[in-house]
Amino acid sequence: MSEVIIQVGAFARAAQLMGRPRRVAVITDDNVAAHYLGPMMRALKGAGHEAVSLSLAPGENSKSLDSYGRILGFLADSGLTRTDTVLALGGGMVGDVAGFAAATYQRGVDLVQVPTSLLACVDSSVGGKTAIDLPQGKNLAGAFWPARLTLIDPLLLRTLPYDHYRDGLAEVVKYAAIRDRALFDLLPYEEVEEEGIIRCCVDIKRAIVARDAHDHGERQLLNFGHTVGHALERLSGYELSHGQGVAVGMAVMARASERLGLCAPGEAGLLIGMMHTLSLPTDCPYGPREIFDAMQADKKRGGQHITLVMMHALGDCRLHPMPMQEALAVVEAGCAP
Ligand code: GLY
Repeated sequence: MSEVIIQVGAFARAAQLMGRPRRVAVITDDNVAAHYLGPMMRALKGAGHEAVSLSLAPGENSKSLDSYGRILGFLADSGLTRTDTVLALGGGMVGDVAGFAAATYQRGVDLVQVPTSLLACVDSSVGGKTAIDLPQGKNLAGAFWPARLTLIDPLLLRTLPYDHYRDGLAEVVKYAAIRDRALFDLLPYEEVEEEGIIRCCVDIKRAIVARDAHDHGERQLLNFGHTVGHALERLSGYELSHGQGVAVGMAVMARASERLGLCAPGEAGLLIGMMHTLSLPTDCPYGPREIFDAMQADKKRGGQHITLVMMHALGDCRLHPMPMQEALAVVEAGCAP
């Protein structure tokens, strides 16, 4: 499996940790570039690497076919070969689109991820999923292409706007809900426990991915709240962020799980209460029918069936494959006030 280093100050050692000198194409976005591109380029060049960079416009809209094509063209123009490296310096959007370019350029080149958002630290930079969005839906084209190295430096999160940080907290809540009740109890102390919380999430993810790298079974647990969340993001024209969509999606699934008798009364309230503590949204801004229709584009749907992640207790989520019509009843149960 690929290496993950989690360490305060790791960014300063990134160029050394890259290994032998090579050509490195750094892909980033304009927000991240303002803080970290200069230091990264100087460090890479100082360590003997031949570094080039491309910066995308920030935001989910850049996770597109257009950006993907731009990156491929840039890699070709820069003379990147199969012995060189793509370095994704940024949050989830950068990691996903740069990762997909790395997976497909010359049938696959070395990838290093340096995540700069909490969401990317705890989720998207680990486990090898890369993707772009299509007009028809999120993440509809992609590849499994694990980074050789993921370098997580919590210090980089200090320049992250709080709204973006909060998006990552939604993914942290997800890990607690699916697997780790003890992590749930740490959440109110997220500021002081940050490094430990990141480590905990990454450990949970790596353990799951080691057993199911290609998302055929257990890995789908990581989609808790995501099927509804992606539908909400799409319905809002991506005005709703990924973290906000996932937070509402988890609230919907937790309420539905409780109302359908899968978990004890009170469990959904605990999860929703924690999301309020973390200033995450839990009220559904769309009706169940609209959400259901948007869910039909989700890639987790197999024919007329879909697998939803339901909560049996905080720390114990399970997969429930079901006919699409049953999923509508679940969403209805979860959306009702
Ligand atoms: N973000 C979900 C996964 O990596 O499987």
